[in-house]
Amino acid sequence: MHENRCIGIVGCGNMGFALAHRLSLYGFTVLMGSRCPDKYNDLEFEIVSTVECIHRSPMIFVALHPEYYIDSLISHLEHDPSLFEGEILIDLSNKPSDKSHLNDISNAERLQTAIPNAFVVKAFNTISSFAMQSTTAGESSNVFVASDHSIAKDKVITLAREMNFDAFNAGSIRVARHLETDIKSLFPQWRIPIIVTFVVLIVWLAYTLYMNYIRIRTTSWNQLFLHMVNEI
Ligand SMILES: NC(=O)c1ccc[n+]([C@@H]2O[C@H](COP(=O)([O-])OP(=O)(O)OC[C@H]3O[C@@H](n4cnc5c(N)ncnc54)[C@H](OP(=O)(O)O)[C@@H]3O)[C@@H](O)[C@H]2O)c1
Repeated sequence: MHENRCIGIVGCGNMGFALAHRLSLYGFTVLMGSRCPDKYNDLEFEIVSTVECIHRSPMIFVALHPEYYIDSLISHLEHDPSLFEGEILIDLSNKPSDKSHLNDISNAERLQTAIPNAFVVKAFNTISSFAMQSTTAGESSNVFVASDHSIAKDKVITLAREMNFDAFNAGSIRVARHLETDIKSLFPQWRIPIIVTFVVLIVWLAYTLYMNYIRIRTTSWNQLFLHMVNEI
């Protein structure tokens, strides 16, 4: 069991609320941080300003898109350089663009460089907000945890297991480069079988077209498509 079961979540979007539901289901107290806490009324979670959320929670999920990191997190360092001292920041983000390459620096590494006094841990980015909310979803429940800070990493692994996920130590923060891009590739090993299937299909269609219609001209051109579909 955690000594302190209060977990912070910065960002009240899809993933933020999905996390909040999951955490509260497993007995954690959730504190959410938002740019505009007043716009959320009558909700089951306490929602405060981003800075208050960071102050009050030792472990914080960063449920923001990486392009908002500067505005919503890093900019607060100007007024309070020790704001993130000793805090565990769990980076959930994925690469925003399909053009990203494996050797590009990851969002998690950028966050760690920008906030060196925090312990940045990459995790949960492979879990969708749907799977986060549903304990019966058929999706993968594997959580890969990467960080350069072993104590923080162990705490996040323990947290993920308490949230009923299968958590694995993925290695150093550099592994985030893979974790953030892997999610973007849909069935990467399927590429060659899909190409081969389409080539075979096209050859077979061309052969059928030639044998049944071009060579012996059994049908008129305006009924060609209909006959082909029936044949198939
Ligand atoms: N959705 C998923 O299934 C999923 C799965 C895995 C990982 N993730 C990752 O989780 C992170 C959040 O994703 P999401 O789907 O929850 O995104 P989202 O629904 O768009 O929510 C993002 C939140 O960011 C906050 N924010 C802070 N600064 C902002 C700004 N300048 N403009 C707009 N919003 C700003 C907003 O909350 P406030 O208004 O309260 O400040 C907003 O609700 C992303 O990094 C994403 O890659 C998402």
